[in-house]
Amino acid sequence: MDKDKIIEILNGDLEGEHGAIIQYLTHAYAMGEGEMACEIEAIAREEMRHLDWLAEAIVELGGTPSLERGKMRMSGKSVVDWMKNNVRLEEDGITLYRDHIKAIDAPEIKRLLQRILSDEESHHGDFQHFVEKAQKEGAADVRGTRQDKVTQMLNWGIEHEYTVILQYLLHSYMTKNEEVREQMQDQAINEMQHLGWLAEEMVDGGGNPRIEHTEVNRSTKTADMLRADIKIEKEVAAAYDRSAKEVDDPDLKKLLLRLRDHEIYHTEVFSDLLEEEEKQQS
Ligand SMILES: [Fe+2]
Ligand SMILES: [Fe+2]
Ligand SMILES: [Fe+2]
Repeated sequence: MDKDKIIEILNGDLEGEHGAIIQYLTHAYAMGEGEMACEIEAIAREEMRHLDWLAEAIVELGGTPSLERGKMRMSGKSVVDWMKNNVRLEEDGITLYRDHIKAIDAPEIKRLLQRILSDEESHHGDFQHFVEKAQKEGAADVRGTRQDKVTQMLNWGIEHEYTVILQYLLHSYMTKNEEVREQMQDQAINEMQHLGWLAEEMVDGGGNPRIEHTEVNRSTKTADMLRADIKIEKEVAAAYDRSAKEVDDPDLKKLLLRLRDHEIYHTEVFSDLLEEEEKQQS
């Protein structure tokens, strides 16, 4: 099998992981606090590691990781339905990984897919267990229908955070600067925390988080990446600062100021990296 074909297959798998992450996070947030929600979030984190491994393999083969989101199974009204969908999504993944392991002859790629497959088999069992648990113990969708300026602002924040997670991950995969790669990975993890905090705040306040993203910067030169990342960080720090002044709820105000401070820190880290990168290039 030629390289391009392998890249295409791995990108399809990566898109599948992306879809799974969002499907599981949506469920975990919708269920509010509790053991099952925590365990589902932990499974989403494992899918993130898969996404990372696949992206790195794609770059090593000379490809560009896809940012498309693969198939999701989002129908169903009850938690039991959702968990059944998750079982099916894992089955979809298991079938594909088995096919891809058979079709690809490169041993290191085979090994990687085998490693991921064993996680998916374990997730499959976890979700079967959650179907039974939800049937026996009951589990509820605790999201509300609140729609006002606050929920609008929170959804704006969620959209921003999701966008920069993808952007920083892509930049981490594409840069040749080792220090930038490390920082991008670190800050992407920090933005995932932000996404979680905003989504939890939304559900606590009776709203419904909408996990969509806007356009991702796809620069290929490290200095261009950093310029784009600094620009977006400055914008979001200012937006969180404005929102913090507007809201009355003291806890929400505290959260927004904490986010603002993190984004200011990101701006500073990226600015230092840009300065060094420019020095090296000149
Ligand atoms: Fe999985
Ligand atoms: Fe953030
Ligand atoms: Fe940030």
